[in-house]
Amino acid sequence: MRDDVSAEQVIGDAEFVWHQRFHLTDRIVTPGANDIEWLLYRIELPQSLAGKSVLDVGTTNGGAAFTAERRGAAHVVAVDIYDPDIYGFDTLCSALDSRAEFVKGSVYELPRLVDGPFDEVLFLGVLYHLRHPLLALDSLRQLTRGNLYVETAVSGSVDDEPRARFYRRGELHDDPSNWFAPTVSCLVDWVESSGFVVDRVDEWPEGRPERAYVAAHLAEGPPEWERFSYEVPLSVSPAPRG
Ligand SMILES: C[S@@+](CC[C@H](N)C(=O)[O-])C[C@H]1O[C@@H](n2cnc3c(N)ncnc32)[C@H](O)[C@@H]1O
Repeated sequence: MRDDVSAEQVIGDAEFVWHQRFHLTDRIVTPGANDIEWLLYRIELPQSLAGKSVLDVGTTNGGAAFTAERRGAAHVVAVDIYDPDIYGFDTLCSALDSRAEFVKGSVYELPRLVDGPFDEVLFLGVLYHLRHPLLALDSLRQLTRGNLYVETAVSGSVDDEPRARFYRRGELHDDPSNWFAPTVSCLVDWVESSGFVVDRVDEWPEGRPERAYVAAHLAEGPPEWERFSYEVPLSVSPAPRG
């Protein structure tokens, strides 16, 4: 971004949806509700991503993708199911002189759509929007060579039994795009079963967590679930609605 005036102008002219709050310049901050810089601090994304490749799945306004680039990432791919103009990714990308690449697609089909694997994979605020969370983790397993960060709504803590609550008709926050919220212990099991080793877990607010994250790295060998199950790994293409 050239200067504060240009940043204010981008915000003033924007007709797209602001979901995320992040700095366009040292002084000017976007008007979204989700403080993406706080979230990246909370998940302990390294301050230096020099030379790294980063995949940001469910990018909305691109806040995490642009921040990763600012931290030195050499190659950033941002993904969303919506066209880039819906959340202004294209506008912000050119205003910030960003080289981040936008790919329209669903997490399930990403191994076909993007050239991976990536050093750092961000999957923040997306898991509970999915009808097929394990299929998404299988897909991310194919795209990760370093660390995976999963942040999500949860239905219980790391001390609760591993279970996931299903919301049939928008019972979670009155939002029908929400389907599953695991307990934190279930989230850990899902991620490890999918071929990762969990390094860090955090949940908030304390005592009665509604959100949590895990940071994980790739486990050696095939994903754990493949050793126990006769399930066949799937490769997914979107089907027409109806
Ligand atoms: C709650 S927002 C989270 C945005 C951002 N990651 C953050 O933490 O601020 C969820 C985003 O995920 C996207 N999304 C939903 N389902 C998806 C899918 N199957 N594949 C990729 N992105 C998806 C939505 O379009 C939306 O942009």
